[in-house]
Amino acid sequence: MLAVPTHIALAEPQDLARLSVHFAEVADEPLFVLTSEFPRTLEATEKFLSQVLSSPHVGLLIGKQEQKVVGHCLIRSTDHPALRHVAKISMAVSADARRQGVGEALLRAAEKWAQQRRLRKIVLDVLANNRPALRLYEKLAYREEGARKDQVMIDGHYHDELLLAKFL
Ligand SMILES: CC(C)(COP(=O)(O)OP(=O)(O)OC[C@H]1O[C@@H](n2cnc3c(N)ncnc32)[C@H](O)[C@@H]1OP(=O)(O)O)[C@@H](O)C(=O)NCCC(=O)NCCS
Repeated sequence: MLAVPTHIALAEPQDLARLSVHFAEVADEPLFVLTSEFPRTLEATEKFLSQVLSSPHVGLLIGKQEQKVVGHCLIRSTDHPALRHVAKISMAVSADARRQGVGEALLRAAEKWAQQRRLRKIVLDVLANNRPALRLYEKLAYREEGARKDQVMIDGHYHDELLLAKFL
């Protein structure tokens, strides 16, 4: 149950500006965005959103409180014949909106998106020290399938990355 009224829906073109603000809020989250491809500007978000909206294999769920975008969950499948039963997820909630049920609602909506497309499996990577995310995934019955040792370096320290999955 969401603690603050939050509307969860697929992103639409008119969400661009507010989505860009949300992406900027979470872009430097140390436990989350580790690679460079995350859209950090309005222009980059516009390009990213148009790619998402033009692909039948990608869903971008967003959570809105009043008009503000407070969270997103990107779910990406593929049309590769050997892999098209699998989708990969990444997500973040703006710091001010955490612990209100937004992340859980987004993840459940992404699972529904995958079920509607008859996908079989959702996978994701998470840093082994990302306790909030691990708790969320555990609550929704994601299971560990493996680990990449010292996969990520942050501020001169190596971190393990866990591979999690859920069968739908
Ligand atoms: C992980 C994240 C998405 C959780 O979003 P959220 O909206 O705060 O989570 P919710 O309020 O929906 O919490 C759902 C469940 O997750 C767990 N949880 C979430 N945050 C937690 C925390 N700080 N400590 C412990 N458990 C936590 C709890 O089990 C919670 O259920 P409960 O409320 O019944 O206890 C959010 O912390 C975030 O954006 N973190 C930075 C980005 C990130 O790590 N993304 C994931 C990368 S793999």
